[in-house]
Amino acid sequence: MRRIAIISVFLALLVSCAETKVQDNSISVIPEPMYCRADEGVFVIDKDTKIVVDELSEEMQRIAGFLNEKLSKAAGFELEIVKDGPMPRENFIAFMNAGLQSESYEINVVPQHILVDYGDGAGAFYALQTLFQLLPVEIFSQELQKRVDWTVPCCNIDDKPRFKYRGMHLDVCLHYFDLEFLKKDIDIMAAHKVNRFHWHLTEDQGWRIEIKKYPLLTKIGSLREQTTTGHNEGLDGIPYGGFYSQKDIKEIVKYAAERFITIIPEIEIPGHSLGALCAYPWLGCRGEEGNYKTWSYWGVSPQIACAGKESTFKFWEDVLGEVIELFPGEYIHIGGDEAPRDEWKVCPLCQQRIKDNGLKNEAELQSYVTHRIEEYLNKHGRKLIGWDEILEGGVSQSATIMSWRGASGGIKAAQKGNYAIMTPNDFCYLDYFQTKDRKDEPDAIGGYVPLAKSYSLNPYDKLTPEQQKYILGVQGNLWCEYIPTPMQLQYMALPRLGALAEIGWSNPAPEKKDTNEFIERAKHLSRYYAVFGWNFAKHFYDGVEE
Ligand code: ACM
Ligand code: ZN
Repeated sequence: MRRIAIISVFLALLVSCAETKVQDNSISVIPEPMYCRADEGVFVIDKDTKIVVDELSEEMQRIAGFLNEKLSKAAGFELEIVKDGPMPRENFIAFMNAGLQSESYEINVVPQHILVDYGDGAGAFYALQTLFQLLPVEIFSQELQKRVDWTVPCCNIDDKPRFKYRGMHLDVCLHYFDLEFLKKDIDIMAAHKVNRFHWHLTEDQGWRIEIKKYPLLTKIGSLREQTTTGHNEGLDGIPYGGFYSQKDIKEIVKYAAERFITIIPEIEIPGHSLGALCAYPWLGCRGEEGNYKTWSYWGVSPQIACAGKESTFKFWEDVLGEVIELFPGEYIHIGGDEAPRDEWKVCPLCQQRIKDNGLKNEAELQSYVTHRIEEYLNKHGRKLIGWDEILEGGVSQSATIMSWRGASGGIKAAQKGNYAIMTPNDFCYLDYFQTKDRKDEPDAIGGYVPLAKSYSLNPYDKLTPEQQKYILGVQGNLWCEYIPTPMQLQYMALPRLGALAEIGWSNPAPEKKDTNEFIERAKHLSRYYAVFGWNFAKHFYDGVEE
């Protein structure tokens, strides 16, 4: 009961403030809710607590089931889920569809009950993620706990996201991660209210998605003979590979969808394509003479798919046709970054294409490619996203730009009325080092993005209110050259993903951002990471690293 006493002292001070940032540790949530008021007292969950749902759809049953799944091991009981019949007088957690906006929710905790209002499954799911952070962390233990009061502090929370796109990117080409790990990664995203998983599936170093029409893509293109060591210093002599069958992909798409995460697949066009070129050499400007081999080094291979041949476009459309069938989301990412255009300069077919279409240069040839691919996607009801390089030769008004070389691509896009997603490398590249003290640090690609830097991202920087409307959201990116294991991947992602998730969900005004206060909440959240078995970096425990 000491907990209640502490809460009462804190809350006597806090309740008088209307809309206030709640400093009380017992109401510490990331991403920070739009409105949160701490009240006096607690609600206690026990084995007689009922979960009441007003619609026993498969979706709501699943969401209520997530709560039971979490409770059952530590508490040793599951809560009964009830729909019809009289509302219990007390001791219930009720989910009520109150017609709120998509993804929004309200939570009202009083000593007698918890009431959750939502408007769609996503809102109910996000309310649950918030509730998890209000529960004592021990409730998520994998072992039965005997001596814990399963209390939820009384409070009133009214919450909705600022951005509709809150993403996390994962490259599985430089290193491959299995389905079990991908599901854990999706759980991590969901806990942070991330709603887009940008899945980078094709590369110079390996093609990872099964395409039925082109079986050699995975039979040959998913394998590399060996992998470089250090920073392109040596070669390890060990064959490496891995891919996802279409059955695997469907399983992951479903798992993500059940957690309100849409997957955005990325198929690299026209660069970063060596995986495809070694499977089907006719795709390249140099054909059989190219002697293509899946790349064993990090960086960008100089080979590129030939934009002069119609057969290359047929291939891209066939591949995207199968991708569209697998991924129901509205966006398909076509890469477009770091396309090495030198082979195009000496390829007669590419030069002929430039001439025939009155293009000025190879940048415009890439633009020609992007336009044709976009037309195909649009014809099939999908929208195109590309990295900011696709701006270089001009883009259509409907292409969405993912800004990675700083924020300038996103700013340029918004200024010309194209939608943009902010993933500037100097804030959002979670594969960069997160500390200056590298003595005990795993190797990384370079760079330096401490937690405080990620948290300082202002996606609206340098944009007028009108231009700000074109920023769809933000995303953390993980490239895996130096991330060979799941544990290291989590270590790089956490807690920086927490910072970016808060920018995406809460987007605190720059002048109101309090990094030290955020770090206190990150410490609280990291206790949950630990119980969930998620590896995370701890540098921030020592204070803000500038
Ligand atoms: C990228 O980091 N090449 C998009
Ligand atoms: Zn060519």
